[in-house]
Amino acid sequence: MKNNSLSSCLLISILATLLVASAGNFYQDFVITWGDGRGKILNNGELLTLSLDKSSGSGFQSINQYLFGKFDMQLKLVPGNSAGTVTTYYLKSEGSSWDEIDFEFLGNLSGDPYILHTNVFSQGKGNREQQFYLWFDPTADFHTYTCIWNPQQIILYVDGTPIREFKNLESDGVAYPNNQLMRLYSSLWNADDWATRGGLVKTDWSQAPFTASFRNFGSSTSSANSSSNSWFTQELDSTSQERLKWVQKNYMIYNYCTDTKRFPQGLPTECTVA
Ligand SMILES: *[C@@H]1O[C@H](CO)[C@@H](O)[C@H](O)[C@H]1NC(C)=O
Ligand SMILES: *[C@@H]1O[C@H](CO)[C@@H](O)[C@H](O)[C@H]1NC(C)=O
Repeated sequence: MKNNSLSSCLLISILATLLVASAGNFYQDFVITWGDGRGKILNNGELLTLSLDKSSGSGFQSINQYLFGKFDMQLKLVPGNSAGTVTTYYLKSEGSSWDEIDFEFLGNLSGDPYILHTNVFSQGKGNREQQFYLWFDPTADFHTYTCIWNPQQIILYVDGTPIREFKNLESDGVAYPNNQLMRLYSSLWNADDWATRGGLVKTDWSQAPFTASFRNFGSSTSSANSSSNSWFTQELDSTSQERLKWVQKNYMIYNYCTDTKRFPQGLPTECTVA
């Protein structure tokens, strides 16, 4: 009884934090943190571009920190020969037992597919990589990459299609990100020691500067308005489960949960709990 009233009290105080869904303006929501002028906010705050050349990449981060939320960003990735480059969009907390939710886009030679690399860290423990090809050319246009993070699960979406789910399995002993504030970060940098074909293809600096673009950031965080905080209890319905299976069957190219060689002592708990 006592515990119950304590946790509903906590829930109410989270819901009572009145921060309504907002369509972002990059000047309001973010700061460019590195890159010495290579990151730019344009069009009155509607567009942000990051660039990379031989001397540096660039990056930005959110001004706010969040505990749970729905985060949308539209990205248009480095076109042409982007081999060796990595564009990131992720949530991360601070400290040595940090939480982190990653989208990383690994570039490729012209015409060869990007890899969308994802990971989830809880209390400093990651090693939960899943990688995907995309069903479109992510450099031809903007596409929406969404993270829903609520107390029950994390769901990653591409253009509204779920590609990955990470459930809260604390009751099975798996740490879950639910008590550290996270910030949003994004960067464009050179990772040609591993990014493209495992590091075999290097960045072609004659193509520099490389540029990735961002627009339409939207965040919904804890809100008192029940019609706009559906993300707080969102889970995958049967249609979404089917979509997720479709992506995993046709576009997933690596899943740590099936990598038995990597985990000779047994797969991580979240992979074996139904
Ligand atoms: C790049 O293209 C090659 C050849 O199609 C493919 O094997 C690889 O997965 C692609 N992506 C990356 C990031 O290496
Ligand atoms: C709640 O959110 C919905 C959708 O965002 C909006 O149409 C409605 O006016 C809001 N209601 C209140 C009471 O703020």
